[in-house]
Amino acid sequence: MKKINKILFPIVSSSLIVTGIVPLTTSCSNSSRHAVSEYVTELPYSDGFTIMQWTDTHIRAQDDEQKVKHHDFLLKQISKFKEEHKDTDKKEKPDLIVITGDAIIESRKEDYIWLFDILDKEIKTPWTLIFGNHEPRALFSIEWLVGEMNRRSALREKDGSSYCVFKDIANDDVYGDTNHVVNLVDKNHKVIKQVIMLDTNRYRDDYYTWDYLRPSQIEWYERVVKETTANNGGTPVESAMFLHICLPEYKNAWDYHCAHPEDPEPQWEEGGECWDDVKPSKVNSGMFKKILELGSTKITTCGHEHANDWSALYKGVRFCYGVKSSDNAGDYWSPDKATYLLGNRTFTFHDNGGVTTARHHYHFEGEE
Ligand SMILES: [Fe+2]
Repeated sequence: MKKINKILFPIVSSSLIVTGIVPLTTSCSNSSRHAVSEYVTELPYSDGFTIMQWTDTHIRAQDDEQKVKHHDFLLKQISKFKEEHKDTDKKEKPDLIVITGDAIIESRKEDYIWLFDILDKEIKTPWTLIFGNHEPRALFSIEWLVGEMNRRSALREKDGSSYCVFKDIANDDVYGDTNHVVNLVDKNHKVIKQVIMLDTNRYRDDYYTWDYLRPSQIEWYERVVKETTANNGGTPVESAMFLHICLPEYKNAWDYHCAHPEDPEPQWEEGGECWDDVKPSKVNSGMFKKILELGSTKITTCGHEHANDWSALYKGVRFCYGVKSSDNAGDYWSPDKATYLLGNRTFTFHDNGGVTTARHHYHFEGEE
């Protein structure tokens, strides 16, 4: 994790907007370069490996009574998964859970411990978390939170008492806190698929201006993909990218779709909803251009806009919104009361190439 002094923000961002020139590196006297392997955790791959995305659960510190409700709703994601897989692959749980930010808001340490213990002691499946814009709204330092996840990740490697696959390196040369990788490997540790997590950071000039992916993060992504490609004999390994705030090109896809609803491109997922604005950072630092150049990432997903869960295939990359996993951040009923946007999104990797995605909507008990 590396932070740029705030005073640099206007200088950096205006040069990006006006000239489109993105500096390749940013300097920080305390930062150091680390090998790609230090950011990587391996999980065993098999055909049908499925990731479940939770996002924007917004568990609140003052909601102790509500925690029972949210505990049951999170466990319901798993019981429904098992139910829906009983006639096919008989999977009981997803192979990995990724929480894409705003997990808890205005929180105490015990609120995150409560969430992490649900994952480690009840669900018992590999999990990780990337930060949203709200993660720093906590009653403790962000360093404590990073340290707690690193501690659990170390426990997983030491004695298997945690299922956390998070990794973050203090004082590295990559901006942000939660940039890490999960490699899905065969028994010889050959990387078959790759899951890349990026911290889309917090705020820029004011509370409602989202931050952006920094050049050092794009450079890190390039290092990850190029090294993996080289180790795979020059052929890119298929990857999925998890974010909190969407890439700026999500708005291009949505705006084009609105202007040309008859055009089959971008290919829209059946039933995806867009009740909220599409609100990326105003700064486009070039991640999507890099994704297209490197040819590895086939799917990206995010959270942040609570009432969007659409997905579209845009220029060969599938853009997704996760399905929000709590009702703590707004009204999730559609205006006609026909749709309820709570639950999760899943991503399934296939041996023959491609990753498929599906939305899953569930109700809280008593609301069906
Ligand atoms: Fe949120």
